Amino acid sequence: MAQAWWQRGVVYQIYPRSFMDSNGDGLGDLRGIASKLDYLKWLGLDALWLSPIFPSPMADFGYDVSNYVDIYPPFGNLDDFDHLLAAVHQRDLKLILDLVPNHTSNHHEWFIESRSSRDNPKRDWYIWRDAQPDGSPPNNWLSYFGGPSWTWDETTGQYYLHSFLAEQPDLNYRNPEVKKAIADSIRFWLKRGVDGFRVDVIDRMIKDEQLRDNPLNPDWVEGRDNPTWKYLRVYSENQPGVHDLIQELRQVFEEFKDRVMIGEIAYSTDPTLITGFYGTDEAPEIHLPFNFALLMLPWQAEAVRSFVDLYEASLPADGWANYVLGNHDQMRIGTRIGLEQARVAAMLILTLRGTPFIYYGEELGLRDVDIPPHLYQDPQGINLGISRDPQRTPMHWDNSPNAGFTTGEPWLPLSPDYPVLNVVSEQADPTSMLMFYHTLLGLRRYTPALHAGSYRSVESPEGTFVYVREHAGKQYLIALNFWNVGRALTLPGRGKVILSTHMDRGDAVAELHLRANEGVVVELIG
Ligand code: NOJ
Repeated sequence: MAQAWWQRGVVYQIYPRSFMDSNGDGLGDLRGIASKLDYLKWLGLDALWLSPIFPSPMADFGYDVSNYVDIYPPFGNLDDFDHLLAAVHQRDLKLILDLVPNHTSNHHEWFIESRSSRDNPKRDWYIWRDAQPDGSPPNNWLSYFGGPSWTWDETTGQYYLHSFLAEQPDLNYRNPEVKKAIADSIRFWLKRGVDGFRVDVIDRMIKDEQLRDNPLNPDWVEGRDNPTWKYLRVYSENQPGVHDLIQELRQVFEEFKDRVMIGEIAYSTDPTLITGFYGTDEAPEIHLPFNFALLMLPWQAEAVRSFVDLYEASLPADGWANYVLGNHDQMRIGTRIGLEQARVAAMLILTLRGTPFIYYGEELGLRDVDIPPHLYQDPQGINLGISRDPQRTPMHWDNSPNAGFTTGEPWLPLSPDYPVLNVVSEQADPTSMLMFYHTLLGLRRYTPALHAGSYRSVESPEGTFVYVREHAGKQYLIALNFWNVGRALTLPGRGKVILSTHMDRGDAVAELHLRANEGVVVELIG
């Protein structure tokens, strides 16, 4: 069966605040993104996913939406959006937006109405409960951003639930009107021509009906561990009813042709947790339930191989894999494993079977930027000391002031390495990270075995992960050295190296010598 675009292609995540500023206010915007589409096309991508672009007071940088059917004014307006969408489609690219249905902003008119009186028609659109007799919150659930998940509201004398900030009240999906309102918001964008949505914390949209207390986490140690992990989220995430809800949401996508639904689910290295969200032929759920395992596993060949093998084995027959190396919530890969291994990681996700997700700037080798705590903007940094600002800093376009990102004052400081690590300089250096990504993306696109072929891992020396991709009789072997010492292996036949992470070889080999931190793609020639 022919592959869908979201199976064949590679998705690039743009954090709109930090991509390109067209009007000098220090914030990226839609016109800025539109001005960089030729670069993205040249790079070799297929789809762009924009983190939220909707009106928002920005308590959680757009993950607190105050209107699902408009644009955050500093990013532009609906005309700018239509212009961007048309320009994306003109280049045969796809555009994916970010839907945040679990919660709204407390400035959303639905919440303003809901909190106005106990008998307001929208009261039940959110989750309101009485205090316990001693005045404490209805249960022990904790917010992901610190403190209780409940905030007392004076006006009506009840608590409301928020899984994240108090500024992000959770919607009540046991109320059919809420489902309809969100479905209509999805339709609004899909009708406009948007190619799909990444859906925020989709596995948390339904809570335990009785709102029972979560049990204590036996492994949690006060003072050592993140306070938000004190209780196991047994009743506040991944509840049985969530699959029915996801099936209903999926049907909204099915009203349109060829749209994709990507879902953010728990960060887990247990493949069955991920594969449980594909649904079945009769009751489909998420096309691409995010696989974040590579962000969590130790960076060791054996750990990665055994995860990939298990994940492959647990995918349902029509389930399509995906791999993520970075996003706006996680430390950048180059910071976590170093830039040499970041090339190995790029070769890994761009040669595995499944849709790769690339976070903006990874193609340049951007790393987390040191941001002093007094400059933190991210509420998670301010409340818990775990700031996500370092991975959200502006993109590096060239070596002019502020890397060409803005003519104004950038909303976050830039990395001091931008005069060297930027698009223009790296395009001029044939072995830069950027040229490596560009070459690798081209190789994946034009090699059916790499975007559509089968996968099988093969035995290999410690510290290496080796697998074969095969399609229509053509075989490619990928050998990745996770160690910083050389490793040798014998090929199952003769082969020719067609790409090395070092970008300096094209030799025919039977015995493969991998240098320290080297990955290669070898075309097997029998
Ligand atoms: C997951 C998003 O990726 C993150 O950035 C956000 O803070 C939370 N969901 C809440 O929406």
